[in-house]
Amino acid sequence: MNYRITTFEEYETAYKQSVDNPEGFWEAIADNFTWQSRWNTVLEWNFTEPSIKWFDGGKLNITENCLDRHLATRGNKIALVWEPNDPKELSIRYTYRELYENVCRMANVLKNMGVKKGNRICIYMPMIPELTFAVLACARIGAVHSVVFAGFSAASIADRINDSLCEYVLTSDALSRGNKQIPVKAVVDEALETCPSVKKTLVVNRLNWPVHMAEGRDYWYHDEVQAVSGVCDAEVMDAEDMLFILYTSGSTGKPKGVVHTCGGYMVYAGYSFANVFQYNESDVFWCTADIGWVTGHTYIVYGPLLNGATTVMFEGIPTYPDAGRFWQVIDKHSVNIFYTAPTAIRSLMAAGVDHVLAYSLHSIKALGSVGEPINEEAWQWYNIHVGKERAPVIDTWWQTETGGVMISALAGITPLKPSFAGLPLPGIQPILVDANGEEIKENGVEGYLCIKFPWPSMIRTTYGDHERCRVNYFSTYKNLYFTGDGARRDEDGHYRIIGRVDDVINVSGHRFGTAEIENAINQNKKVVESAVVGFPHDIKGQGIYAFVILAEGEHDPKIIEAEITETVVEHIGRIAKPDKIQIVPGLPKTRSGKIMRRILRKVAEGDVSNLGDTTTLLDPAVVDAIVEGML
Ligand code: PRX
Repeated sequence: MNYRITTFEEYETAYKQSVDNPEGFWEAIADNFTWQSRWNTVLEWNFTEPSIKWFDGGKLNITENCLDRHLATRGNKIALVWEPNDPKELSIRYTYRELYENVCRMANVLKNMGVKKGNRICIYMPMIPELTFAVLACARIGAVHSVVFAGFSAASIADRINDSLCEYVLTSDALSRGNKQIPVKAVVDEALETCPSVKKTLVVNRLNWPVHMAEGRDYWYHDEVQAVSGVCDAEVMDAEDMLFILYTSGSTGKPKGVVHTCGGYMVYAGYSFANVFQYNESDVFWCTADIGWVTGHTYIVYGPLLNGATTVMFEGIPTYPDAGRFWQVIDKHSVNIFYTAPTAIRSLMAAGVDHVLAYSLHSIKALGSVGEPINEEAWQWYNIHVGKERAPVIDTWWQTETGGVMISALAGITPLKPSFAGLPLPGIQPILVDANGEEIKENGVEGYLCIKFPWPSMIRTTYGDHERCRVNYFSTYKNLYFTGDGARRDEDGHYRIIGRVDDVINVSGHRFGTAEIENAINQNKKVVESAVVGFPHDIKGQGIYAFVILAEGEHDPKIIEAEITETVVEHIGRIAKPDKIQIVPGLPKTRSGKIMRRILRKVAEGDVSNLGDTTTLLDPAVVDAIVEGML
């Protein structure tokens, strides 16, 4: 790959080029990839519709870039290392050739099941190698994958399947997580009761769990894969054909399907991986995210494989069998570059330093963080105890919608500041705007974080509802992509992300709309109304605080709390369980009926010294009652 930046001067030159001549800059990078035919134009865009086309007219298949082109030189190199949940089970290593064959086999199975280019495929699977095969097999034959994190409930799967009319579901019998085994296929079965678009499912056997297989609808992967070949031609895709849909929460309505396309996503996933992590040919890279989130898409699967890297995939959790598991796996597989989330670091920090001191970690060269702001204490702990103060700790800011890392130090190349994401990657033009949408040009300021020029892996649309994409991201500030985050830019031009400025909360790096959780809570028949806000949480970053009004009648608070929690688990999944549920007699509403969340946030934070002006409220006395019952 010819696009690795190796010095700070090169970074500065690349950055300048990328602003002065973005088309020329990205064209030179795109030339590093295999295209079946070249593009006509590098970029056509406007942020009003919005319409964004990168490398239009170019033909490619991303899996040829992830797999085929490495076979000659890296056929026997390890592409994928799979580490199971239980350390007593054997890990599995796949060379590039073996991964290629597995992907082709699964692609052939899908074809035999009738999958066609353009079909949407829901993948609801735990972190097993077949999940990686499945994602790449879809891409191989031009089917659009929509991976749904295996912690979501049946209702959430059904919503996502119905929104994009998926025709196939790829899943497993069950999953293994810590000391628990959890059903998976049974959850899909429940979802499919309300998903008429689904024709067939393919089930991977992970745990020999007893499952119901519907005749003519459900197929075992191990049966179907017997008779297929390990070669499968790659479908010819247009650069702007859809590669995948990934659902993410916004401040309004149901989660939306963020659409990424083949060419631009490939170029940016490859470019950002090589540069942010400074990957070298013999390095072992481990991103601990789940492939159900964008981090796993870009930095477990596509980014590493596009660069011919060795990528580690972990089925388990950081605390099983004990809080030393991450460090044990790093030593076991000689991991050089490790990428995780602040919430994991904070929970391991809380478990005590002995767990980390028990391992050598000598292989570590670079450490990354993603998903939420990393507080300085966690940054330092990571730096001292994991990196032994000799590995750069980079804080990478990006979003599902951006497809790849946008603002981050390049490990060991650009300067580091704890709790700052740092400088933008070449090709990325962030700006801060004030409440009126005016750009704030000077440094040492805070504002709303926007991006003023397209980059190849940016969101193209929200599936089935382009207007929603326009309103959400391109209508707040004219001609700008609005991130939903607030940020500070210091005197050196480094960015520090402050957090969401909309009604989105970030719990352990997972995004939820407050409205989405409220809708779930309101499904409980005993609930009249609810309001949800985030509050600072030592481990999770933000916790979920729900204020709930109950219907008349006697309620045992403990029972009702458990019931409300169960309602949320049923409608969204166990990852969205409220941390605190306060039963209130009313909510602080203005005369026009709008909930004053500012007041609720203060209560949730436990800071009621200055609740601000409450005189415009319909019933100011409600506030006193809420403060009195505060948890
Ligand atoms: O608020 C920012 C926060 O996570 C949001 C994006 O969430 P999601 O689409 O789920 O993607 C997460 C992983 C890419 C952002 O709007 N966020 C992400 N990374 C950081 C961050 N906040 C602070 N620092 C980060 N490094």
